[in-house]
Amino acid sequence: MKLSIHPNYDAMSRAAAQCFAQQILKKPDSTLCLATGKTPLGLYQNLVDMFQKGIISFSKTRCFHLDEYLELSFDDPRGFFNTLNQVLFSKVDVQTDRLYRLFDTKRMIEEACLDYEQMIQQYEIDLLLLGIGVNGHIAFNEPGSSWESQTRLVSLSQTTRDRASAEFNPDPVPIQALTMGIKSILRAKKILVLSNGKEKAGIISESFFGPIDVQIPASILQLHPDVNLIVDEPAASVIQEKMEKHNAIKL
Ligand code: GLP
Repeated sequence: MKLSIHPNYDAMSRAAAQCFAQQILKKPDSTLCLATGKTPLGLYQNLVDMFQKGIISFSKTRCFHLDEYLELSFDDPRGFFNTLNQVLFSKVDVQTDRLYRLFDTKRMIEEACLDYEQMIQQYEIDLLLLGIGVNGHIAFNEPGSSWESQTRLVSLSQTTRDRASAEFNPDPVPIQALTMGIKSILRAKKILVLSNGKEKAGIISESFFGPIDVQIPASILQLHPDVNLIVDEPAASVIQEKMEKHNAIKL
Protein backbone atom coordinates (compact mmCIF):
# COMPACT_ATOMS: atom_id res chain seq x y z
CA MET A 1 0.00 0.00 0.00
CA LYS A 2 1.15 3.52 -0.82
CA LEU A 3 0.14 6.15 1.74
CA SER A 4 0.18 9.86 1.07
CA ILE A 5 -0.86 12.44 3.66
CA HIS A 6 -1.91 15.91 2.56
CA PRO A 7 -2.32 19.05 4.68
CA ASN A 8 -6.01 19.54 3.90
CA TYR A 9 -9.03 18.43 1.87
CA ASP A 10 -8.14 20.50 -1.20
CA ALA A 11 -4.61 19.15 -1.41
CA MET A 12 -5.92 15.60 -0.93
CA SER A 13 -8.49 16.09 -3.70
CA ARG A 14 -5.84 17.44 -6.09
CA ALA A 15 -3.58 14.46 -5.40
CA ALA A 16 -6.45 12.04 -6.09
CA ALA A 17 -7.29 13.88 -9.32
CA GLN A 18 -3.65 13.55 -10.41
CA CYS A 19 -3.90 9.82 -9.91
CA PHE A 20 -7.03 9.65 -12.12
CA ALA A 21 -5.46 11.92 -14.73
CA GLN A 22 -2.35 9.74 -14.92
CA GLN A 23 -4.51 6.68 -15.43
CA ILE A 24 -6.61 8.29 -18.18
CA LEU A 25 -3.56 9.77 -19.95
CA LYS A 26 -1.75 6.43 -19.82
CA LYS A 27 -4.82 4.49 -21.01
CA PRO A 28 -7.55 6.69 -22.53
CA ASP A 29 -10.00 3.77 -22.67
CA SER A 30 -9.59 2.97 -18.97
CA THR A 31 -12.45 1.40 -17.06
CA LEU A 32 -13.11 3.43 -13.94
CA CYS A 33 -15.28 2.71 -10.94
CA LEU A 34 -16.47 5.67 -8.92
CA ALA A 35 -17.63 6.26 -5.36
CA THR A 36 -20.15 8.71 -4.01
CA GLY A 37 -20.45 10.35 -0.58
CA LYS A 38 -18.95 13.68 0.43
CA THR A 39 -15.31 12.61 0.32
CA PRO A 40 -14.77 12.55 -3.46
CA LEU A 41 -16.65 15.76 -4.36
CA GLY A 42 -13.42 17.82 -4.45
CA LEU A 43 -11.75 15.18 -6.61
CA TYR A 44 -14.63 15.30 -9.12
CA GLN A 45 -14.46 19.11 -9.25
CA ASN A 46 -10.74 18.83 -10.04
CA LEU A 47 -11.46 16.31 -12.81
CA VAL A 48 -14.07 18.64 -14.32
CA ASP A 49 -11.52 21.49 -14.22
CA MET A 50 -8.89 19.31 -15.90
CA PHE A 51 -11.39 18.35 -18.59
CA GLN A 52 -12.34 21.99 -19.18
CA LYS A 53 -8.67 22.93 -19.52
CA GLY A 54 -8.24 20.18 -22.14
CA ILE A 55 -5.86 18.14 -19.97
CA ILE A 56 -7.99 14.98 -19.88
CA SER A 57 -10.88 13.49 -21.83
CA PHE A 58 -13.37 10.87 -20.69
CA SER A 59 -14.58 10.13 -24.23
CA LYS A 60 -13.12 6.63 -24.31
CA THR A 61 -13.46 5.73 -20.62
CA ARG A 62 -16.05 3.35 -19.23
CA CYS A 63 -17.48 4.24 -15.82
CA PHE A 64 -19.07 1.98 -13.25
CA HIS A 65 -20.22 3.03 -9.81
CA LEU A 66 -19.91 1.14 -6.54
CA ASP A 67 -23.35 1.08 -5.05
CA GLU A 68 -26.90 2.39 -5.09
CA TYR A 69 -29.82 2.78 -2.71
CA LEU A 70 -32.83 0.65 -3.39
CA GLU A 71 -36.40 2.00 -3.26
CA LEU A 72 -35.57 5.30 -5.00
CA SER A 73 -37.15 6.36 -8.28
CA PHE A 74 -34.98 6.30 -11.41
CA ASP A 75 -34.46 10.08 -11.40
CA ASP A 76 -34.21 10.69 -7.63
CA PRO A 77 -31.29 13.14 -7.18
CA ARG A 78 -30.26 11.33 -3.99
CA GLY A 79 -29.49 8.20 -5.99
CA PHE A 80 -25.75 7.59 -6.35
CA PHE A 81 -25.74 7.30 -10.15
CA ASN A 82 -27.73 10.53 -10.41
CA THR A 83 -25.32 12.25 -8.02
CA LEU A 84 -22.36 11.17 -10.14
CA ASN A 85 -24.21 12.38 -13.20
CA GLN A 86 -24.72 15.76 -11.61
CA VAL A 87 -21.18 16.29 -10.30
CA LEU A 88 -19.18 14.61 -13.07
CA PHE A 89 -20.76 12.77 -16.00
CA SER A 90 -22.91 15.68 -17.22
CA LYS A 91 -19.89 18.01 -17.05
CA VAL A 92 -17.38 15.97 -19.05
CA ASP A 93 -17.36 14.18 -22.42
CA VAL A 94 -18.07 10.64 -21.22
CA GLN A 95 -20.29 8.70 -23.65
CA THR A 96 -23.63 7.68 -22.17
CA ASP A 97 -23.36 4.18 -23.63
CA ARG A 98 -20.15 3.74 -21.63
CA LEU A 99 -21.84 4.43 -18.30
CA TYR A 100 -22.93 1.36 -16.33
CA ARG A 101 -25.77 1.83 -13.91
CA LEU A 102 -26.52 -0.44 -10.99
CA PHE A 103 -30.28 -0.13 -10.72
CA ASP A 104 -33.39 -2.18 -10.96
CA THR A 105 -36.74 -2.82 -9.45
CA LYS A 106 -36.96 -5.45 -6.72
CA ARG A 107 -38.57 -7.87 -9.14
CA MET A 108 -35.48 -8.09 -11.35
CA ILE A 109 -32.87 -7.58 -8.68
CA GLU A 110 -30.94 -10.80 -9.09
CA GLU A 111 -30.63 -10.38 -12.85
CA ALA A 112 -29.55 -6.75 -12.45
CA CYS A 113 -26.77 -7.72 -10.02
CA LEU A 114 -25.62 -10.61 -12.16
CA ASP A 115 -25.51 -8.44 -15.30
CA TYR A 116 -23.53 -5.79 -13.48
CA GLU A 117 -21.05 -8.32 -12.13
CA GLN A 118 -20.58 -9.79 -15.61
CA MET A 119 -19.91 -6.33 -17.06
CA ILE A 120 -17.33 -5.61 -14.36
CA GLN A 121 -15.55 -8.86 -15.14
CA GLN A 122 -15.77 -8.32 -18.90
CA TYR A 123 -14.31 -4.80 -18.89
CA GLU A 124 -11.87 -5.21 -15.95
CA ILE A 125 -11.68 -2.12 -13.78
CA ASP A 126 -8.35 -0.32 -14.15
CA LEU A 127 -8.89 2.19 -11.35
CA LEU A 128 -11.48 1.95 -8.60
CA LEU A 129 -12.17 4.72 -6.11
CA LEU A 130 -13.29 3.97 -2.56
CA GLY A 131 -14.39 6.04 0.37
CA ILE A 132 -14.63 4.43 3.80
CA GLY A 133 -17.62 4.47 6.12
CA VAL A 134 -17.01 5.26 9.81
CA ASN A 135 -17.80 1.59 10.52
CA GLY A 136 -15.22 0.43 7.97
CA HIS A 137 -17.66 -0.31 5.18
CA ILE A 138 -16.50 -0.13 1.57
CA ALA A 139 -19.23 0.59 -0.98
CA PHE A 140 -22.21 -0.83 0.94
CA ASN A 141 -20.36 -3.90 2.19
CA GLU A 142 -21.19 -3.54 5.85
CA PRO A 143 -19.27 -5.21 8.71
CA GLY A 144 -19.58 -8.99 8.46
CA SER A 145 -19.73 -9.06 4.64
CA SER A 146 -18.08 -12.09 3.11
CA TRP A 147 -14.71 -11.64 1.42
CA GLU A 148 -16.23 -13.69 -1.42
CA SER A 149 -19.21 -11.39 -1.92
CA GLN A 150 -20.11 -10.16 -5.40
CA THR A 151 -22.65 -7.59 -6.60
CA ARG A 152 -25.83 -8.12 -4.59
CA LEU A 153 -28.71 -6.81 -2.52
CA VAL A 154 -27.77 -5.83 1.06
CA SER A 155 -29.44 -4.41 4.16
CA LEU A 156 -27.91 -1.21 5.46
CA SER A 157 -26.59 -1.00 9.02
CA GLN A 158 -28.18 1.40 11.47
CA THR A 159 -24.93 3.45 11.58
CA THR A 160 -25.00 3.92 7.81
CA ARG A 161 -28.71 4.83 7.81
CA ASP A 162 -28.29 7.30 10.68
CA ARG A 163 -25.48 9.06 8.87
CA ALA A 164 -27.60 9.41 5.73
CA SER A 165 -30.66 10.68 7.58
CA ALA A 166 -30.01 14.41 7.09
CA GLU A 167 -29.81 13.90 3.34
CA PHE A 168 -33.16 12.08 3.23
CA ASN A 169 -35.03 14.09 5.86
CA PRO A 170 -38.08 14.09 6.10
CA ASP A 171 -38.14 10.80 4.14
CA PRO A 172 -36.85 7.61 5.74
CA VAL A 173 -33.43 6.39 4.60
CA PRO A 174 -33.72 3.30 2.37
CA ILE A 175 -33.29 0.06 4.26
CA GLN A 176 -31.63 -1.81 1.42
CA ALA A 177 -29.09 -1.13 -1.29
CA LEU A 178 -27.28 -2.76 -4.19
CA THR A 179 -23.53 -2.94 -3.95
CA MET A 180 -20.51 -4.36 -5.67
CA GLY A 181 -19.16 -7.08 -3.42
CA ILE A 182 -15.79 -7.27 -1.74
CA LYS A 183 -14.56 -9.78 -4.30
CA SER A 184 -15.81 -7.54 -7.13
CA ILE A 185 -13.87 -4.61 -5.64
CA LEU A 186 -10.67 -6.62 -5.13
CA ARG A 187 -10.67 -7.57 -8.83
CA ALA A 188 -9.82 -3.96 -9.75
CA LYS A 189 -6.24 -3.55 -10.95
CA LYS A 190 -5.67 -0.43 -8.89
CA ILE A 191 -7.63 0.92 -5.92
CA LEU A 192 -7.53 4.49 -4.70
CA VAL A 193 -8.86 5.01 -1.19
CA LEU A 194 -9.72 8.55 -0.26
CA SER A 195 -10.48 9.74 3.26
CA ASN A 196 -10.59 13.04 5.08
CA GLY A 197 -11.51 14.44 8.46
CA LYS A 198 -10.87 13.52 12.07
CA GLU A 199 -13.95 11.27 12.30
CA LYS A 200 -12.27 8.81 9.88
CA ALA A 201 -8.91 8.78 11.71
CA GLY A 202 -9.73 5.76 13.91
CA ILE A 203 -11.17 3.58 11.18
CA ILE A 204 -8.34 4.41 8.76
CA SER A 205 -5.83 3.28 11.34
CA GLU A 206 -7.78 0.09 12.17
CA SER A 207 -8.35 -0.74 8.49
CA PHE A 208 -4.80 -0.37 7.28
CA PHE A 209 -2.67 -0.90 10.38
CA GLY A 210 -4.70 -3.48 12.32
CA PRO A 211 -5.65 -7.13 11.81
CA ILE A 212 -7.68 -8.17 8.78
CA ASP A 213 -11.14 -8.71 10.19
CA VAL A 214 -14.56 -9.27 8.54
CA GLN A 215 -15.98 -6.78 11.01
CA ILE A 216 -13.84 -4.12 9.30
CA PRO A 217 -14.49 -4.68 5.59
CA ALA A 218 -11.84 -2.13 4.50
CA SER A 219 -9.13 -4.16 6.25
CA ILE A 220 -9.12 -6.68 3.36
CA LEU A 221 -7.58 -3.97 1.19
CA GLN A 222 -4.29 -4.76 2.95
CA LEU A 223 -4.11 -7.85 0.73
CA HIS A 224 -4.62 -6.02 -2.58
CA PRO A 225 -1.35 -5.54 -4.49
CA ASP A 226 -1.97 -1.97 -5.66
CA VAL A 227 -3.72 0.30 -3.18
CA ASN A 228 -3.09 4.02 -2.99
CA LEU A 229 -4.37 5.52 0.28
CA ILE A 230 -4.70 9.29 0.00
CA VAL A 231 -5.76 11.13 3.14
CA ASP A 232 -5.66 14.55 4.74
CA GLU A 233 -3.82 15.21 8.01
CA PRO A 234 -6.88 14.92 10.31
CA ALA A 235 -7.72 11.48 8.86
CA ALA A 236 -4.09 10.44 9.35
CA SER A 237 -3.91 11.68 12.94
CA VAL A 238 -4.31 8.29 14.68
CA ILE A 239 -1.79 6.65 12.33
CA GLN A 240 0.65 9.46 13.02
CA GLU A 241 0.18 9.20 16.81
CA LYS A 242 0.88 5.45 16.61
CA MET A 243 4.00 6.02 14.52
CA GLU A 244 5.26 8.66 16.97
CA LYS A 245 4.74 6.29 19.93
CA HIS A 246 6.45 3.48 18.05
CA ASN A 247 9.45 5.69 17.27
CA ALA A 248 9.60 6.93 20.86
CA ILE A 249 9.74 3.33 22.14
CA LYS A 250 12.54 2.49 19.69
CA LEU A 251 14.59 5.50 20.85
C1 GLP B 1 -21.43 5.68 1.85
C2 GLP B 1 -21.24 4.92 0.51
C3 GLP B 1 -19.80 4.71 0.19
C4 GLP B 1 -19.00 5.92 0.62
C5 GLP B 1 -19.00 5.98 2.13
C6 GLP B 1 -18.35 7.21 2.71
O1 GLP B 1 -22.43 5.12 2.63
N1 GLP B 1 -21.92 3.69 0.42
O2 GLP B 1 -19.65 4.40 -1.17
O3 GLP B 1 -17.69 5.82 0.15
O4 GLP B 1 -20.28 5.76 2.66
O5 GLP B 1 -19.15 8.36 2.58
P1 GLP B 1 -18.61 9.81 2.88
O6 GLP B 1 -17.59 10.09 1.81
O7 GLP B 1 -19.78 10.74 2.76
O8 GLP B 1 -18.00 9.80 4.23
